[in-house]
Amino acid sequence: MKIQQMFKDDIDRKINGVVKVDQDANDVLVQELNEYVITKELKKHFISFFNNYGDAFNEKTADIGVWISGFFGSGKSHFLKILSYILENKEVDGVKTVERFRSKFEDDPATFMLIDRATKGETDTILFNIDIEGSINKDATAVLRVFAKMFYNYLEFYGEDLKVAKLEQFIDKQGKTEEFRRVFEEKNGQPWLESRDAFAFWEDDIVETLQQVLGMSEEASRNWFNGTETVEMSIAQLVSEIKDYVNTKPENFRLLFMIDEVGQYIGSNTDYLINLQSLVEKIGSECEGKVWVVCTGQEALDEIIKTRQDEFSRIQARFKTRLSLSSASADEVIQKRILSKTDEADKRLTEVFESSDSVLRNLLKFNKDDALLDIRGYETAQDFSKNFPFVPYQFILMQKVFSEIRKHGNAGKHLSGGERSMLSGFQEAAYKIIIKYVQ
Ligand SMILES: Nc1ncnc2c1ncn2[C@@H]1O[C@H](COP(=O)(O)OP(=O)(O)O)[C@@H](O)[C@H]1O
Ligand SMILES: [Mg+2]
Repeated sequence: MKIQQMFKDDIDRKINGVVKVDQDANDVLVQELNEYVITKELKKHFISFFNNYGDAFNEKTADIGVWISGFFGSGKSHFLKILSYILENKEVDGVKTVERFRSKFEDDPATFMLIDRATKGETDTILFNIDIEGSINKDATAVLRVFAKMFYNYLEFYGEDLKVAKLEQFIDKQGKTEEFRRVFEEKNGQPWLESRDAFAFWEDDIVETLQQVLGMSEEASRNWFNGTETVEMSIAQLVSEIKDYVNTKPENFRLLFMIDEVGQYIGSNTDYLINLQSLVEKIGSECEGKVWVVCTGQEALDEIIKTRQDEFSRIQARFKTRLSLSSASADEVIQKRILSKTDEADKRLTEVFESSDSVLRNLLKFNKDDALLDIRGYETAQDFSKNFPFVPYQFILMQKVFSEIRKHGNAGKHLSGGERSMLSGFQEAAYKIIIKYVQ
C-alpha cells in the first residue's frame, strides 16, 4: 500500500499554518469550522468555559475574564475564533455554527447541551488581534484606547478617531444620524461612511452639515473641527457607555471582547497590565456578567504576573477562567487533522507493527537515563498507526525547533503574520515523504 493512499483527507490540501481571527473569507471559515478537532484537552476547556459562562445567566458575576494560554502554534487563535463563532451562533455557508458542532460532540451530549443553552440568547462578540488594532503610539492607556476603538467600531461609529466617533455618537443620540449622512452626502458628493476616514479634508462640508443638522453656529462648528484637544476617555466613562448599551438589550444579551495576542502586546510592561486590570475590574463590577473579556497569550497569566503577585492579585481574581493549551493537544490535532488514516491503512499499519514490533522498538530506543521523558518511540500498534509516517519524539522536537526559530530568527518580534506552524510543518513533511516514495 502506498503512503499516498493511507490518509483519510487529501494531504496536499491548503491549510493556513496560523489562524487569523479577522480573516472571514467564506472558504477559510468553512474549513476552520469543519476541520476543528476537539481534543481531549479542548473538551475540558469547552466544559470549563461554558460552565462558568453559563452560570452567569443564573447568577451575576464579576469574574468575566478568560485567559487562554499556550505556545506558538498550540491553537489559541483558532480556539478563540471558534468560540466567537459558536457564541454568536453565526451562520456560515448556510449552516449555523452550533449545528456544525453537534456532530463533534456526538459522544458527549451533556457538553453539547451546555453549549446549546448558553448560545440561545442574542450574543455579539468583538473579535480582534490587539497587535493589529492597537495604536502605534503605545502609552499607559493603550489597552483602554483599543477597547474604545473596537467598541465604537462595533457601534458603527468611527473608532479610529475618538473625536469623530464622539460626534457621531452625539448625533446618534439626537436621532439625527440619517439626516446627518444625507446632508453631508448632498454637500460632499460622497457618502459619509466613505469620507470620514479623511474627514480632515472636508472642513467646509462638515461645518455646513453641522450647522444645518444640529443648528450649531458656524463658529462653534469650526471650533469643534479645529479643536486640537484630544478626546480624553476614562475607563469609568467607557465602561458606563458599554453598560448603558447592554442595558438597552434583552436581559440575556451578552457582549464579549475576544482579543488575540494580548500576552505579547502587554509583554512585561506594567502600565499596560494595570490598564487591563482596571478595565476588566470595572467591567466586572459594573456589567453584572453581561460583558466578558477573553484574551490569549503565550504565557499563563500567573507567569506574566510572576514577581508582581500582590500588585496584580485583582487581575487574577477577575480572570477566573484560565485555559491552557498543551503540546499534547497540538499533537492530537496533527494526528487527527493531518495524519488520520483510512480504515484499510490503519489495519495494514497495525499488522506491520505487530509483525515487526521488536525491530521497530529497537530501532527507536531512547536511553531513559538521559531523562528524555518526552522523547519517545512507538509504544503500541495504535501509536504507530496514528503517527505514521512520523515518530512520536518528532512532535516535541519540531515544537522546540519552532519556538527557538521564533526566539532567535526574528529579533523578538512576535510573528503573527508568519504563516507556518508545527501543523503546517508536519503537513509539508508528510507531503515530501509521499513525493519521495512515489518516485
Ligand atoms: N483544535 C484544532 N483543530 C484543528 N486545527 C487546529 C486546532 N488547533 C490548532 N489548529 C491549527 O494549528 C495551527 C496553529 O493554530 P493557531 O490557532 O494559529 O495557533 P496559535 O494562535 O496558538 O499560535 C493552525 O493551522 C490551526 O488551524
Ligand atoms: Mg495566534
